[in-house]
Amino acid sequence: MAIDHVLKLYAETIQSPYLHYGFWDEPQAVDPAELRLDDIIKAQERYIEHLTGFIPDDVHLILDVGCGIGGNAGYLVDRGYTVETLSPDAYQEEAIHRRFNNSVPFYRTKFETFNPPKQYDMVLESESACYIKIRPGFEKAFEVLRPGGYLLVADYFVHNNDGSQNPHLKASHEMDKYLRSAEENHFTLIREYDQTENTMPTLDAARNFIQRFMEPTVEYALNSLRRKTPKLLAFVKMLFGKQIRKKSAQLVLVDSDAFRKYRRYMIYLFQKD
Ligand SMILES: C[S@@+](CC[C@H](N)C(=O)[O-])C[C@H]1O[C@@H](n2cnc3c(N)ncnc32)[C@H](O)[C@@H]1O
Repeated sequence: MAIDHVLKLYAETIQSPYLHYGFWDEPQAVDPAELRLDDIIKAQERYIEHLTGFIPDDVHLILDVGCGIGGNAGYLVDRGYTVETLSPDAYQEEAIHRRFNNSVPFYRTKFETFNPPKQYDMVLESESACYIKIRPGFEKAFEVLRPGGYLLVADYFVHNNDGSQNPHLKASHEMDKYLRSAEENHFTLIREYDQTENTMPTLDAARNFIQRFMEPTVEYALNSLRRKTPKLLAFVKMLFGKQIRKKSAQLVLVDSDAFRKYRRYMIYLFQKD
């Protein structure tokens, strides 16, 4: 992968050093219509703060796998951990070098094909586990960790595969399969936490934004094309209708009730046997 343009878009629009959902302590009290970007960035800081609470005391050297643009790594460095970062993405490589001025090592590779120069106390996969193939990911984690080392995963998993075409069933691992593979690859689950509810206000805010700003804008543009250049609109629909319908179907990804139905956002702390 050269550059993941969706992640680049998030990085450039939200202008936060994090590429994850964030964590809300009191999700029921949040009104998505009232949220500002600053609130989302604060929730993202809270996410890594909360996740750091799961790091065992005997961890010093961390490999941040799927490091994004370095928000988590920076937070951990500031708390005294030694951190190295890894991602297959060229845009993120530049962002990490810029942020840390080469003081934090970066490996540009998929985790599955990483050639580790040393062993680590802990591998962190913050919203990156879903990108990494299950079995090769556990095999690689086993290889890079010292005896008794830890794998800390925070990500969403499918808990209810009803065989439908719902986009929530794609691009994330099935929870049972993932946990079974952990066991088969000599990892013991020592702590877990379901943070689904703590992450949902971010989805609700995204949905609110789309409904309030993007949908009316698209509708305005379509009406205007329909009135002024109907032939051009018909031509565009003929050429791109299928892709447009496919993209629209993906809007369910920001529907928090659909998320709850199919996915759970979990924290798993595994220890290498
Ligand atoms: C949603 S972002 C999360 C970024 C960061 N961990 C965070 O929490 O802000 C997913 C990350 O996984 C990376 N990634 C994608 N495929 C990967 C792979 N096969 N091995 C390692 N990282 C991968 C992406 O480039 C990106 O850095």
